[in-house]
Amino acid sequence: MSAKTGSFTFGDKTIELPVKTGTIGPSVVDIGKLYAQAGMFTFDPGYTSTASCESEITYIDGDKGVLLYRGYPIEQIAERGDFLETCYLLLYGELPSAAQKKDFDHRITRHTMVHEQLASFLHGLRRDSHPMAVLVASVGALSAFYHDSTDISDRNQRMTASFRLIGKMPTLAAMAYKYSIGQPFVYPKNDLDYSSNFLRMCYAVPCEEFRINPVFARALDRIFILHADHEQNASTSTVRLAGSSGANPFACIAAGVACLWGPAHGGANEAALKMLMEIGTVENIPKFIARAKDKNDPFRLMGFGHRVYKNYDPRAKIMQRTCHEVLNELGDKDNPLLEVAIGLEKIALSDEYFIEKKLYPNVDFYSGITLRAMGFPVSMFTALFAVARTAGWIAQWKEMIEDPGQKIGRPRQLYTGPARRDYVPIERRA
Ligand code: CMC
Repeated sequence: MSAKTGSFTFGDKTIELPVKTGTIGPSVVDIGKLYAQAGMFTFDPGYTSTASCESEITYIDGDKGVLLYRGYPIEQIAERGDFLETCYLLLYGELPSAAQKKDFDHRITRHTMVHEQLASFLHGLRRDSHPMAVLVASVGALSAFYHDSTDISDRNQRMTASFRLIGKMPTLAAMAYKYSIGQPFVYPKNDLDYSSNFLRMCYAVPCEEFRINPVFARALDRIFILHADHEQNASTSTVRLAGSSGANPFACIAAGVACLWGPAHGGANEAALKMLMEIGTVENIPKFIARAKDKNDPFRLMGFGHRVYKNYDPRAKIMQRTCHEVLNELGDKDNPLLEVAIGLEKIALSDEYFIEKKLYPNVDFYSGITLRAMGFPVSMFTALFAVARTAGWIAQWKEMIEDPGQKIGRPRQLYTGPARRDYVPIERRA
């Protein structure tokens, strides 16, 4: 990273600040000394022009619709790689050799089971709990079970916590699902690959032989790859902020799961599918497009628009292909929801409102139809996203902890409340 300087004039003061340049992407102005020099803070709620950290993990060019994991385009990884290879790449920075991959798969697999008492913990939750509520609780509860991997100053413990989180997340998500439908938990089966194992834990029952559909397993693996990391999004920034205080990794990832739940973030796939079901038929599309454009109507096209992508989300293209593969496998090429989605996309992409605001389909637009076709209920969609994003959260958390310049995250504010005033005893208040 090379450094230059830039100067700014505020009133009669000229302030010189360092400008840092990364490998690709916009440079940043380092304002760390701004307050000391100018007595002012910067103001950027929503971080629209603020880089919160340095990172070597994921790069997005939102204008061109580019997404790179450690430099590798998402299209190539999704086409040729698998999810555990993606986890290795995110964690270690390089693609594994065949021997490294075998060893990594084995390590993750050894950590797929959860402590038996976690099942009792889950039984304390209401039967109709949302799977994300179960996931927030159970991931946080991992800190209560795995004391030997909560010391963040110990590299081995950090690695063990990383393996545990990647390994146990599908088990916990599947348990959340089984709990919600009143079926017994299914233990992981370690001779299966990551996605097949997850499908089995979700759909197998003790009274029948379960056959894994390889097309579904490959589709799910690709969905996991597409969702594995997305640089400093809201949940990842939450994980980093929680971790900056020195909190243990299980607590930090639980914070990430909580943030992901919101409909503007990981909850959008659930919202997008509900919207497609509400639209119902192609004839209703113009009515919903008109609502999305109406300033007085809070309705938005879910699965459309993105803070960073001002072009087609590259993940959405792969997701659309995966959706077709799953529906073909089911012999459901004329799926009415897919028809609505394709029709909606076509109209929106040629509408002046969406063109001018650069609103394109994002990854969530087609993921809901795909997951539903694979048999997942809508309430599980965000939990699946959480399973995948755990890879990115943990890689970003590790990068932060291992950065020698790391500090606790502590934003400042523009105070707009009352100025100093004296306390009034209750009997003298109006
Ligand atoms: N439908 C209709 N209008 C929209 C939409 C939409 N989906 N998204 C943005 N706009 C309009 C918005 O009303 C605003 O108009 P104006 O400038 O006239 O006020 C303009 O576009 C900019 O919107 P914004 O809310 O200021 O943009 P943002 O960068 O803060 O929001 C977003 C990004 C993803 C929250 C937003 O596009 C949205 O709510 N989309 C629907 C939810 C969704 O699909 N979220 C998933 C994101 S991808 C998954 C992930 O990475 O977590």
